[in-house]
Amino acid sequence: MNHSRPRAAAALAAALTALALLAGGCTGAIGGVRGTPGAAGLRDPYFPKLGNGGYDVRRYALNLAYDPGTGRLDGTAEITARADQDLSAFNLDLAGLTVGGASVDGKPAAFNRAGNELTLRPHEELREGAEFRVTVTYAGVPEPVTDADGTREGWLRTDDGAVAVGEPVGSMTWFPGNHHPSDKAAYDITLTVPAGLEAVSNGVRTSRGTAADGRVTTVWRATEPMASYLATVAIGRYRTETATALGSVPVLTAAEPSVAADSAALRDEIPQILARQVRRFGPYPFSAAGAIVTEDGTLGYALETQTRPVFPAASFDRTTLVHELAHQWFGNSVSPATWRDLWLNEGFATYAEWLYAEEYGHVPARTSFERAFAEDANWAFPPAAPPTAENLFDPPVYQRGAMVLHKLRETVGDKAFGEILRGWPAKYRHANASTADFTAYAETVTGRDLDGLWTVWLYGRGRPDGP
Ligand code: ARG
Ligand code: ZN
Repeated sequence: MNHSRPRAAAALAAALTALALLAGGCTGAIGGVRGTPGAAGLRDPYFPKLGNGGYDVRRYALNLAYDPGTGRLDGTAEITARADQDLSAFNLDLAGLTVGGASVDGKPAAFNRAGNELTLRPHEELREGAEFRVTVTYAGVPEPVTDADGTREGWLRTDDGAVAVGEPVGSMTWFPGNHHPSDKAAYDITLTVPAGLEAVSNGVRTSRGTAADGRVTTVWRATEPMASYLATVAIGRYRTETATALGSVPVLTAAEPSVAADSAALRDEIPQILARQVRRFGPYPFSAAGAIVTEDGTLGYALETQTRPVFPAASFDRTTLVHELAHQWFGNSVSPATWRDLWLNEGFATYAEWLYAEEYGHVPARTSFERAFAEDANWAFPPAAPPTAENLFDPPVYQRGAMVLHKLRETVGDKAFGEILRGWPAKYRHANASTADFTAYAETVTGRDLDGLWTVWLYGRGRPDGP
Protein backbone atom coordinates (compact mmCIF):
# COMPACT_ATOMS: atom_id res chain seq x y z
CA MET A 1 0.00 0.00 0.00
CA ASN A 2 1.36 3.37 -0.84
CA HIS A 3 0.36 5.62 2.04
CA SER A 4 1.44 8.81 0.37
CA ARG A 5 -1.33 8.55 -2.30
CA PRO A 6 -4.27 9.91 -0.32
CA ARG A 7 -2.20 12.81 0.96
CA ALA A 8 -0.98 13.66 -2.54
CA ALA A 9 -4.55 13.47 -3.80
CA ALA A 10 -5.74 15.78 -1.03
CA ALA A 11 -3.00 18.26 -1.83
CA LEU A 12 -3.92 18.13 -5.52
CA ALA A 13 -7.59 18.68 -4.72
CA ALA A 14 -6.72 21.67 -2.54
CA ALA A 15 -4.58 23.12 -5.31
CA LEU A 16 -7.38 22.63 -7.84
CA THR A 17 -9.87 24.29 -5.50
CA ALA A 18 -7.51 27.22 -5.09
CA LEU A 19 -7.15 27.44 -8.87
CA ALA A 20 -10.92 27.37 -9.29
CA LEU A 21 -11.26 30.17 -6.72
CA LEU A 22 -8.59 32.19 -8.48
CA ALA A 23 -10.42 31.70 -11.74
CA GLY A 24 -13.51 33.14 -10.11
CA GLY A 25 -15.24 29.79 -9.77
CA CYS A 26 -16.27 30.37 -6.17
CA THR A 27 -19.67 28.66 -6.31
CA GLY A 28 -18.43 25.40 -4.94
CA ALA A 29 -18.88 23.54 -8.22
CA ILE A 30 -16.35 20.75 -8.31
CA GLY A 31 -13.57 21.09 -10.83
CA GLY A 32 -14.69 24.57 -11.75
CA VAL A 33 -17.63 23.41 -13.88
CA ARG A 34 -20.72 25.51 -13.36
CA GLY A 35 -23.24 23.64 -15.39
CA THR A 36 -26.94 24.04 -15.93
CA PRO A 37 -29.54 21.27 -16.15
CA GLY A 38 -30.08 19.68 -19.56
CA ALA A 39 -33.48 20.26 -21.14
CA ALA A 40 -36.26 17.85 -20.11
CA GLY A 41 -37.44 17.47 -23.71
CA LEU A 42 -36.37 18.09 -27.29
CA ARG A 43 -39.58 19.94 -28.27
CA ASP A 44 -40.66 17.40 -30.82
CA PRO A 45 -43.79 18.81 -32.51
CA TYR A 46 -45.86 15.82 -31.31
CA PHE A 47 -44.06 14.79 -28.11
CA PRO A 48 -42.37 17.91 -26.68
CA LYS A 49 -41.04 16.12 -23.58
CA LEU A 50 -39.64 13.15 -25.48
CA GLY A 51 -35.86 12.94 -25.40
CA ASN A 52 -33.62 15.17 -23.33
CA GLY A 53 -31.08 17.90 -23.96
CA GLY A 54 -27.49 18.44 -22.88
CA TYR A 55 -25.96 15.13 -23.87
CA ASP A 56 -25.70 12.61 -26.65
CA VAL A 57 -25.83 8.87 -25.96
CA ARG A 58 -23.10 6.74 -27.54
CA ARG A 59 -23.99 3.31 -26.22
CA TYR A 60 -26.61 1.54 -24.16
CA ALA A 61 -25.68 -1.66 -22.38
CA LEU A 62 -28.95 -3.12 -21.13
CA ASN A 63 -28.88 -6.10 -18.84
CA LEU A 64 -32.40 -7.45 -18.44
CA ALA A 65 -33.76 -10.43 -16.56
CA TYR A 66 -37.39 -11.35 -17.15
CA ASP A 67 -39.74 -13.66 -15.29
CA PRO A 68 -42.71 -14.43 -17.56
CA GLY A 69 -44.61 -15.94 -14.63
CA THR A 70 -44.82 -12.71 -12.65
CA GLY A 71 -44.13 -10.30 -15.51
CA ARG A 72 -41.31 -8.76 -13.51
CA LEU A 73 -38.39 -7.17 -15.32
CA ASP A 74 -35.10 -6.54 -13.49
CA GLY A 75 -32.84 -4.18 -15.39
CA THR A 76 -29.54 -2.43 -15.31
CA ALA A 77 -28.98 0.22 -17.96
CA GLU A 78 -25.45 1.39 -18.46
CA ILE A 79 -25.44 4.45 -20.70
CA THR A 80 -22.30 5.97 -22.16
CA ALA A 81 -22.88 9.54 -23.26
CA ARG A 82 -21.10 12.75 -24.13
CA ALA A 83 -22.04 16.06 -22.50
CA ASP A 84 -22.77 18.76 -25.03
CA GLN A 85 -22.96 21.49 -22.45
CA ASP A 86 -21.66 21.90 -18.91
CA LEU A 87 -24.21 19.85 -17.01
CA SER A 88 -25.34 20.09 -13.40
CA ALA A 89 -28.17 17.61 -13.97
CA PHE A 90 -29.82 15.78 -16.85
CA ASN A 91 -32.88 13.70 -17.59
CA LEU A 92 -33.64 10.27 -18.94
CA ASP A 93 -37.11 9.21 -20.10
CA LEU A 94 -38.59 6.31 -18.15
CA ALA A 95 -42.25 5.34 -17.75
CA GLY A 96 -43.32 3.25 -14.77
CA LEU A 97 -40.97 0.79 -13.02
CA THR A 98 -39.05 1.52 -9.82
CA VAL A 99 -35.55 2.93 -9.84
CA GLY A 100 -33.33 1.28 -7.25
CA GLY A 101 -30.21 3.36 -7.72
CA ALA A 102 -28.24 5.52 -10.10
CA SER A 103 -24.62 6.43 -10.52
CA VAL A 104 -22.55 8.61 -12.81
CA ASP A 105 -18.94 7.64 -13.44
CA GLY A 106 -19.13 5.16 -10.59
CA LYS A 107 -20.33 7.63 -7.95
CA PRO A 108 -23.88 7.52 -6.61
CA ALA A 109 -26.07 10.17 -8.21
CA ALA A 110 -29.14 11.78 -6.68
CA PHE A 111 -32.27 11.08 -8.67
CA ASN A 112 -35.84 12.25 -8.82
CA ARG A 113 -38.86 11.14 -10.82
CA ALA A 114 -41.72 13.20 -12.17
CA GLY A 115 -44.02 11.75 -14.83
CA ASN A 116 -41.86 10.10 -17.47
CA GLU A 117 -38.80 12.14 -16.52
CA LEU A 118 -36.00 10.65 -14.43
CA THR A 119 -33.67 13.46 -13.34
CA LEU A 120 -30.12 12.59 -12.30
CA ARG A 121 -27.81 14.93 -10.44
CA PRO A 122 -24.25 13.66 -10.74
CA HIS A 123 -21.92 13.98 -7.78
CA GLU A 124 -19.59 16.03 -9.93
CA GLU A 125 -20.83 18.34 -12.63
CA LEU A 126 -20.01 17.27 -16.17
CA ARG A 127 -17.93 19.40 -18.46
CA GLU A 128 -18.98 20.00 -22.05
CA GLY A 129 -17.32 17.40 -24.25
CA ALA A 130 -16.75 14.93 -21.42
CA GLU A 131 -17.77 11.32 -21.91
CA PHE A 132 -19.57 9.89 -18.90
CA ARG A 133 -21.16 6.65 -17.83
CA VAL A 134 -24.56 6.44 -16.18
CA THR A 135 -25.81 3.31 -14.47
CA VAL A 136 -29.46 2.94 -13.49
CA THR A 137 -30.85 -0.14 -11.79
CA TYR A 138 -34.59 -0.61 -12.01
CA ALA A 139 -37.32 -3.20 -11.71
CA GLY A 140 -41.03 -3.78 -11.91
CA VAL A 141 -43.80 -5.00 -14.17
CA PRO A 142 -43.64 -2.84 -17.32
CA GLU A 143 -46.89 -1.16 -18.31
CA PRO A 144 -47.44 -0.83 -22.06
CA VAL A 145 -48.59 2.49 -23.48
CA THR A 146 -51.76 2.83 -25.46
CA ASP A 147 -51.12 5.30 -28.26
CA ALA A 148 -53.32 8.17 -29.26
CA ASP A 149 -54.43 5.98 -32.20
CA GLY A 150 -55.42 3.12 -29.89
CA THR A 151 -52.53 0.75 -30.69
CA ARG A 152 -50.43 -0.77 -27.89
CA GLU A 153 -46.67 -0.53 -27.66
CA GLY A 154 -43.87 -0.99 -25.17
CA TRP A 155 -43.25 -4.21 -23.26
CA LEU A 156 -46.18 -6.44 -24.22
CA ARG A 157 -46.70 -9.61 -22.20
CA THR A 158 -47.52 -12.89 -23.90
CA ASP A 159 -48.57 -16.25 -22.39
CA ASP A 160 -45.00 -17.41 -21.92
CA GLY A 161 -42.88 -14.29 -22.49
CA ALA A 162 -43.02 -10.80 -23.95
CA VAL A 163 -42.52 -8.74 -27.09
CA ALA A 164 -41.11 -5.23 -26.81
CA VAL A 165 -41.67 -2.63 -29.53
CA GLY A 166 -41.34 1.11 -29.25
CA GLU A 167 -42.71 3.23 -32.06
CA PRO A 168 -43.10 6.06 -31.31
CA VAL A 169 -42.77 6.29 -27.51
CA GLY A 170 -42.94 2.74 -26.08
CA SER A 171 -39.27 2.07 -25.38
CA MET A 172 -39.34 4.19 -22.23
CA THR A 173 -41.53 1.49 -20.66
CA TRP A 174 -38.63 -0.96 -20.52
CA PHE A 175 -35.42 1.06 -20.28
CA PRO A 176 -34.37 4.57 -19.29
CA GLY A 177 -32.82 6.59 -22.10
CA ASN A 178 -32.88 9.49 -24.46
CA HIS A 179 -35.98 8.30 -26.26
CA HIS A 180 -36.10 10.63 -29.26
CA PRO A 181 -35.09 9.34 -32.72
CA SER A 182 -32.53 12.15 -33.05
CA ASP A 183 -30.22 10.54 -30.47
CA LYS A 184 -29.09 7.26 -32.00
CA ALA A 185 -26.64 4.95 -30.27
CA ALA A 186 -25.09 1.47 -30.30
CA TYR A 187 -26.76 -1.19 -28.14
CA ASP A 188 -25.61 -4.25 -26.24
CA ILE A 189 -28.64 -6.11 -24.95
CA THR A 190 -28.18 -8.99 -22.51
CA LEU A 191 -31.28 -11.04 -21.74
CA THR A 192 -31.71 -13.61 -18.99
CA VAL A 193 -34.81 -15.81 -19.08
CA PRO A 194 -35.96 -19.14 -17.63
CA ALA A 195 -34.69 -22.38 -19.15
CA GLY A 196 -36.57 -23.47 -22.25
CA LEU A 197 -37.17 -19.96 -23.56
CA GLU A 198 -35.41 -18.01 -26.30
CA ALA A 199 -34.66 -14.31 -25.95
CA VAL A 200 -34.17 -12.48 -29.24
CA SER A 201 -33.15 -8.89 -29.87
CA ASN A 202 -31.47 -6.61 -32.42
CA GLY A 203 -28.16 -7.19 -34.17
CA VAL A 204 -25.82 -10.12 -33.85
CA ARG A 205 -26.13 -12.82 -31.20
CA THR A 206 -22.69 -12.93 -29.60
CA SER A 207 -23.21 -15.52 -26.88
CA ARG A 208 -25.73 -17.79 -25.27
CA GLY A 209 -25.19 -19.74 -22.09
CA THR A 210 -26.95 -21.48 -19.25
CA ALA A 211 -26.20 -20.41 -15.69
CA ALA A 212 -26.02 -22.67 -12.62
CA ASP A 213 -29.62 -21.78 -11.75
CA GLY A 214 -30.74 -23.01 -15.17
CA ARG A 215 -31.58 -19.60 -16.56
CA VAL A 216 -30.37 -18.79 -20.06
CA THR A 217 -28.47 -15.62 -20.88
CA THR A 218 -28.24 -14.39 -24.47
CA VAL A 219 -26.16 -11.42 -25.53
CA TRP A 220 -27.04 -9.28 -28.57
CA ARG A 221 -24.93 -6.56 -30.09
CA ALA A 222 -26.25 -3.84 -32.39
CA THR A 223 -23.19 -1.98 -33.57
CA GLU A 224 -24.65 0.58 -35.96
CA PRO A 225 -26.49 3.60 -34.52
CA MET A 226 -30.09 2.82 -33.58
CA ALA A 227 -33.00 5.03 -32.58
CA SER A 228 -34.49 3.76 -29.34
CA TYR A 229 -37.94 3.11 -30.87
CA LEU A 230 -36.29 0.42 -33.01
CA ALA A 231 -34.96 -1.61 -30.09
CA THR A 232 -36.78 -4.89 -29.60
CA VAL A 233 -36.93 -7.95 -27.38
CA ALA A 234 -38.91 -11.14 -28.02
CA ILE A 235 -39.03 -13.79 -25.29
CA GLY A 236 -40.86 -17.08 -25.76
CA ARG A 237 -40.53 -20.59 -27.14
CA TYR A 238 -39.16 -19.24 -30.40
CA ARG A 239 -37.71 -21.50 -33.10
CA THR A 240 -34.71 -19.80 -34.64
CA GLU A 241 -33.08 -20.31 -38.00
CA THR A 242 -29.96 -18.82 -39.48
CA ALA A 243 -28.84 -18.04 -43.02
CA THR A 244 -26.56 -15.61 -44.82
CA ALA A 245 -27.55 -12.69 -47.02
CA LEU A 246 -25.53 -10.52 -49.39
CA GLY A 247 -22.53 -12.79 -49.07
CA SER A 248 -21.73 -11.97 -45.46
CA VAL A 249 -24.70 -10.64 -43.48
CA PRO A 250 -25.93 -13.13 -40.86
CA VAL A 251 -29.69 -13.59 -40.99
CA LEU A 252 -31.43 -14.86 -37.88
CA THR A 253 -35.17 -15.40 -37.89
CA ALA A 254 -37.30 -16.44 -34.95
CA ALA A 255 -40.88 -17.67 -34.97
CA GLU A 256 -43.18 -18.86 -32.22
CA PRO A 257 -43.85 -22.62 -32.52
CA SER A 258 -47.44 -22.36 -33.75
CA VAL A 259 -46.42 -20.04 -36.61
CA ALA A 260 -42.95 -21.45 -37.36
CA ALA A 261 -43.94 -23.87 -40.12
CA ASP A 262 -46.25 -21.50 -41.97
CA SER A 263 -43.74 -18.65 -41.89
CA ALA A 264 -40.68 -20.71 -42.88
CA ALA A 265 -40.88 -20.27 -46.67
CA LEU A 266 -41.22 -16.50 -46.48
CA ARG A 267 -38.49 -16.24 -43.84
CA ASP A 268 -36.26 -18.05 -46.35
CA GLU A 269 -36.93 -15.29 -48.90
CA ILE A 270 -35.25 -12.59 -46.81
CA PRO A 271 -31.81 -12.93 -48.47
CA GLN A 272 -33.37 -12.63 -51.92
CA ILE A 273 -35.52 -9.62 -51.03
CA LEU A 274 -32.53 -7.87 -49.48
CA ALA A 275 -30.44 -8.58 -52.58
CA ARG A 276 -33.15 -7.01 -54.75
CA GLN A 277 -33.41 -3.99 -52.45
CA VAL A 278 -29.65 -3.49 -52.44
CA ARG A 279 -29.86 -3.08 -56.22
CA ARG A 280 -32.40 -0.27 -55.75
CA PHE A 281 -31.35 1.41 -52.51
CA GLY A 282 -27.60 0.82 -52.31
CA PRO A 283 -25.56 -1.07 -49.69
CA TYR A 284 -27.44 -2.70 -46.82
CA PRO A 285 -26.78 -0.43 -43.82
CA PHE A 286 -26.46 -3.07 -41.07
CA SER A 287 -24.30 -6.03 -40.12
CA ALA A 288 -27.23 -8.31 -39.29
CA ALA A 289 -30.69 -9.10 -40.62
CA GLY A 290 -33.70 -11.26 -39.84
CA ALA A 291 -37.30 -11.26 -38.65
CA ILE A 292 -39.35 -12.16 -35.60
CA VAL A 293 -42.77 -13.71 -36.17
CA THR A 294 -45.11 -13.78 -33.20
CA GLU A 295 -48.46 -15.40 -32.60
CA ASP A 296 -51.41 -13.14 -33.29
CA GLY A 297 -53.06 -11.38 -30.41
CA THR A 298 -50.17 -9.48 -28.85
CA LEU A 299 -49.23 -6.94 -31.47
CA GLY A 300 -51.65 -5.42 -33.98
CA TYR A 301 -49.05 -4.31 -36.54
CA ALA A 302 -45.59 -5.11 -37.87
CA LEU A 303 -42.65 -2.94 -36.88
CA GLU A 304 -39.31 -2.41 -38.62
CA THR A 305 -37.22 -3.00 -35.46
CA GLN A 306 -33.61 -2.56 -36.49
CA THR A 307 -32.03 -5.50 -38.31
CA ARG A 308 -34.87 -7.79 -37.18
CA PRO A 309 -38.42 -6.53 -37.81
CA VAL A 310 -41.29 -7.94 -35.75
CA PHE A 311 -44.48 -9.30 -37.32
CA PRO A 312 -47.69 -10.67 -35.91
CA ALA A 313 -48.30 -13.86 -37.94
CA ALA A 314 -51.33 -12.29 -39.66
CA SER A 315 -49.10 -9.52 -41.11
CA PHE A 316 -46.27 -11.80 -42.18
CA ASP A 317 -46.86 -11.57 -45.92
CA ARG A 318 -44.46 -10.67 -48.72
CA THR A 319 -45.67 -7.09 -49.11
CA THR A 320 -45.28 -6.32 -45.42
CA LEU A 321 -41.89 -8.03 -45.35
CA VAL A 322 -40.74 -5.90 -48.30
CA HIS A 323 -42.05 -2.83 -46.44
CA GLU A 324 -40.27 -3.56 -43.15
CA LEU A 325 -37.01 -4.54 -44.86
CA ALA A 326 -37.10 -1.29 -46.90
CA HIS A 327 -37.34 0.58 -43.59
CA GLN A 328 -33.84 -0.64 -42.79
CA TRP A 329 -32.68 2.00 -45.31
CA PHE A 330 -35.57 4.42 -44.90
CA GLY A 331 -36.27 5.11 -41.24
CA ASN A 332 -33.62 2.99 -39.54
CA SER A 333 -30.44 4.14 -41.26
CA VAL A 334 -31.89 7.51 -42.35
CA SER A 335 -34.03 8.35 -39.33
CA PRO A 336 -36.56 11.15 -39.00
CA ALA A 337 -35.30 14.39 -37.44
CA THR A 338 -38.63 14.69 -35.61
CA TRP A 339 -41.83 12.66 -35.63
CA ARG A 340 -43.24 15.14 -38.15
CA ASP A 341 -40.83 13.67 -40.71
CA LEU A 342 -42.32 10.17 -40.38
CA TRP A 343 -43.56 10.24 -43.99
CA LEU A 344 -39.89 9.89 -45.01
CA ASN A 345 -40.06 6.45 -43.34
CA GLU A 346 -43.52 5.37 -44.37
CA GLY A 347 -43.71 7.03 -47.79
CA PHE A 348 -40.46 5.36 -48.88
CA ALA A 349 -41.37 1.97 -47.35
CA THR A 350 -44.74 2.10 -49.14
CA TYR A 351 -43.07 3.14 -52.36
CA ALA A 352 -40.69 0.19 -51.93
CA GLU A 353 -43.82 -2.04 -52.02
CA TRP A 354 -44.93 -0.35 -55.26
CA LEU A 355 -41.49 -0.79 -56.80
CA TYR A 356 -41.40 -4.44 -55.80
CA ALA A 357 -44.85 -5.03 -57.28
CA GLU A 358 -43.76 -3.26 -60.46
CA GLU A 359 -40.56 -5.22 -60.88
CA TYR A 360 -41.61 -8.66 -59.63
CA GLY A 361 -45.42 -8.63 -59.65
CA HIS A 362 -46.29 -6.93 -62.95
CA VAL A 363 -48.20 -4.08 -61.30
CA PRO A 364 -46.84 -0.76 -62.60
CA ALA A 365 -46.15 1.82 -59.89
CA ARG A 366 -48.46 4.10 -61.86
CA THR A 367 -51.31 1.69 -61.11
CA SER A 368 -50.53 1.66 -57.39
CA PHE A 369 -50.37 5.45 -57.52
CA GLU A 370 -53.76 5.73 -59.21
CA ARG A 371 -55.35 3.38 -56.71
CA ALA A 372 -53.98 5.47 -53.85
CA PHE A 373 -55.08 8.66 -55.59
CA ALA A 374 -58.66 7.39 -55.73
CA GLU A 375 -58.91 6.71 -51.96
CA ASP A 376 -60.49 9.58 -50.04
CA ALA A 377 -58.75 8.60 -46.79
CA ASN A 378 -55.37 9.35 -48.35
CA TRP A 379 -56.23 13.04 -48.69
CA ALA A 380 -57.12 13.85 -45.09
CA PHE A 381 -53.98 15.96 -44.57
CA PRO A 382 -50.58 16.62 -46.18
CA PRO A 383 -48.09 13.81 -45.45
CA ALA A 384 -45.58 16.01 -43.65
CA ALA A 385 -48.20 17.60 -41.40
CA PRO A 386 -50.29 15.08 -39.43
CA PRO A 387 -52.65 17.27 -37.38
CA THR A 388 -52.06 15.43 -34.07
CA ALA A 389 -50.08 12.49 -32.65
CA GLU A 390 -53.26 10.47 -33.17
CA ASN A 391 -52.80 10.80 -36.94
CA LEU A 392 -49.10 9.92 -37.18
CA PHE A 393 -49.75 6.50 -38.72
CA ASP A 394 -52.79 7.46 -40.79
CA PRO A 395 -53.05 6.67 -44.53
CA PRO A 396 -51.77 10.04 -45.83
CA VAL A 397 -48.37 9.46 -44.16
CA TYR A 398 -48.02 6.13 -46.00
CA GLN A 399 -49.99 6.43 -49.24
CA ARG A 400 -49.73 10.12 -49.91
CA GLY A 401 -46.08 9.92 -48.89
CA ALA A 402 -45.57 7.30 -51.60
CA MET A 403 -47.59 9.40 -54.07
CA VAL A 404 -45.17 12.32 -53.56
CA LEU A 405 -42.31 10.01 -54.49
CA HIS A 406 -44.12 8.73 -57.55
CA LYS A 407 -44.83 12.27 -58.77
CA LEU A 408 -41.16 13.08 -58.17
CA ARG A 409 -40.23 10.09 -60.33
CA GLU A 410 -42.59 11.19 -63.13
CA THR A 411 -41.22 14.73 -62.93
CA VAL A 412 -37.50 13.98 -62.96
CA GLY A 413 -37.51 10.70 -64.87
CA ASP A 414 -36.54 7.14 -63.93
CA LYS A 415 -32.82 7.70 -64.14
CA ALA A 416 -32.66 10.71 -61.80
CA PHE A 417 -35.21 9.08 -59.50
CA GLY A 418 -33.06 5.94 -59.33
CA GLU A 419 -30.14 8.12 -58.28
CA ILE A 420 -32.27 9.64 -55.51
CA LEU A 421 -33.29 6.18 -54.26
CA ARG A 422 -29.62 5.28 -53.82
CA GLY A 423 -28.19 8.68 -53.04
CA TRP A 424 -30.59 9.71 -50.27
CA PRO A 425 -29.81 6.73 -48.01
CA ALA A 426 -26.11 7.14 -48.81
CA LYS A 427 -26.03 10.83 -47.92
CA TYR A 428 -27.85 10.44 -44.58
CA ARG A 429 -26.59 6.94 -43.74
CA HIS A 430 -26.87 6.34 -39.96
CA ALA A 431 -28.02 9.92 -39.47
CA ASN A 432 -31.24 11.92 -39.20
CA ALA A 433 -33.00 13.92 -41.88
CA SER A 434 -35.99 16.24 -42.17
CA THR A 435 -38.50 16.94 -44.92
CA ALA A 436 -36.56 20.12 -45.79
CA ASP A 437 -33.38 18.03 -46.11
CA PHE A 438 -35.19 15.78 -48.56
CA THR A 439 -36.65 18.50 -50.79
CA ALA A 440 -33.28 20.29 -50.86
CA TYR A 441 -31.50 17.02 -51.69
CA ALA A 442 -33.88 16.18 -54.55
CA GLU A 443 -33.44 19.65 -56.03
CA THR A 444 -29.66 19.57 -55.75
CA VAL A 445 -29.31 16.13 -57.29
CA THR A 446 -31.62 16.87 -60.19
CA GLY A 447 -30.57 20.50 -60.57
CA ARG A 448 -34.21 21.46 -60.77
CA ASP A 449 -36.54 23.76 -58.93
CA LEU A 450 -39.28 21.42 -57.72
CA ASP A 451 -41.34 23.97 -55.79
CA GLY A 452 -44.45 23.34 -57.87
CA LEU A 453 -44.31 19.63 -57.11
CA TRP A 454 -43.89 20.11 -53.35
CA THR A 455 -46.61 22.76 -53.17
CA VAL A 456 -49.24 20.50 -54.69
CA TRP A 457 -48.21 16.97 -53.71
CA LEU A 458 -46.32 17.38 -50.46
CA TYR A 459 -47.88 20.42 -48.81
CA GLY A 460 -51.21 20.90 -50.62
CA ARG A 461 -54.33 20.52 -48.50
CA GLY A 462 -56.63 18.73 -50.90
CA ARG A 463 -56.60 16.27 -53.77
CA PRO A 464 -55.33 17.75 -57.06
CA ASP A 465 -57.67 17.67 -60.09
CA GLY A 466 -56.07 14.68 -61.72
CA PRO A 467 -53.49 12.02 -60.97
N1 ARG B 1 -43.86 1.64 -38.56
C1 ARG B 1 -44.80 0.55 -38.61
C2 ARG B 1 -44.90 0.19 -40.08
O1 ARG B 1 -44.05 -0.43 -40.59
C3 ARG B 1 -46.12 0.86 -38.00
C4 ARG B 1 -46.10 1.20 -36.55
C5 ARG B 1 -47.44 1.54 -36.03
N2 ARG B 1 -47.33 2.03 -34.70
C6 ARG B 1 -48.32 2.62 -34.06
N3 ARG B 1 -48.08 3.04 -32.87
N4 ARG B 1 -49.49 2.79 -34.61
O2 ARG B 1 -45.74 0.60 -40.80
ZN1 ZN C 1 -43.76 1.31 -42.17
